[in-house]
Amino acid sequence: MPPKEMLMPELEQVLYSGMVAEGEYVYRFEREFAAKFDLPQALAMSSGTAALHAALSLAGVGAGDEVISTPMTAEPTNVVILQLGATPVFADVDPASGNIDPASVAALITPKTKAILVVHYAGFPVRLAEIQAIARRHQLPVIEDCAHALGARYAGHGIGRTSEFSLFSFQAIKHMTTVDGGALHLADAERVPEAKRFRWFGMDKGVPRTEVDIKTVGYKYNMHNVAGVIGLAQLKVIDALIAKHVANGRFFDDALSAIPGLSVTRFDAAADPSYWLYSVLSEDSADIEKRMASIGVAASKLHRPNHYHSIFEPMRRPLPGLDSYYRRLTHIPCGWWVDAETRERIVDALRKG
Ligand SMILES: Cc1ncc(COP(=O)(O)O)c(C=O)c1O
Repeated sequence: MPPKEMLMPELEQVLYSGMVAEGEYVYRFEREFAAKFDLPQALAMSSGTAALHAALSLAGVGAGDEVISTPMTAEPTNVVILQLGATPVFADVDPASGNIDPASVAALITPKTKAILVVHYAGFPVRLAEIQAIARRHQLPVIEDCAHALGARYAGHGIGRTSEFSLFSFQAIKHMTTVDGGALHLADAERVPEAKRFRWFGMDKGVPRTEVDIKTVGYKYNMHNVAGVIGLAQLKVIDALIAKHVANGRFFDDALSAIPGLSVTRFDAAADPSYWLYSVLSEDSADIEKRMASIGVAASKLHRPNHYHSIFEPMRRPLPGLDSYYRRLTHIPCGWWVDAETRERIVDALRKG
């Protein structure tokens, strides 16, 4: 949370204003969020999951369709595809980054494919130029799940800017939180009214309730003013927080790649990661976890590759890149709370291992 003295007067004002639901604070947050993160427009949502549901639906995904996706992600990415009656088709990942492998994506496209959904895992942008070239060849939309990658850049643009749809999460443990919340970016400005109806029961806001006419199904996916005012305060401090993630990430890139037996994420030359998590790869990930625990630092694999869940069992396929990545993976903390002394201690413990 931003400093109390910055947040609390504004928050108190909203809480007792009589207007706690969607309103001016949300709209200001949308404008300021989009401007800060280089997006032409952003719609504030109740969660990243809601934003993803909207993106998939606006991309035309429905029952019987296929969406090419990655299993190396948090579960919402793929559960939402099922919610729409569609099937996630799991592409393999690049074992050097954990990110979706463009060659695997290209090999899985069928006439049923409706969209390509990529996740910038741990804050490292995917090989977006290659993915977008494949998508263009097949006239498919790309949806970027930027939940881990707030503040990352690709080819000089804010992450998420150059695809048809992208989404962000402001859930509790992301770079920036509004307690819960999300944002949807869509490239086609003309579809913004449709997206707004999707987030509000299929209704246009501002039209008197007795006159409004619902023509398509929508959801209650809007952000409220309480989250909006927290988001506005967060935007005042977020640059410094992301800069700390990046400084810690770069420190680990240099220090850990010099340690025999460890490797670090390899990323596209066009990418500027925002290091939500730091991924260390080694032949003994359990030992790294133990070593970190011995100095009081939490380290883990964090996610379960989604195809390991029973619900995705019918969609399992051999994924050798993922197997190699996941076996070798440990995440160590690199967020804004990791100070210079702690990161030195982490490197020192790993060097002795
Ligand atoms: C990669 C990824 N996608 C989507 C989501 C969903 O975001 P939210 O929790 O805001 O619904 C999350 C976070 O939980 C995530 O990590």
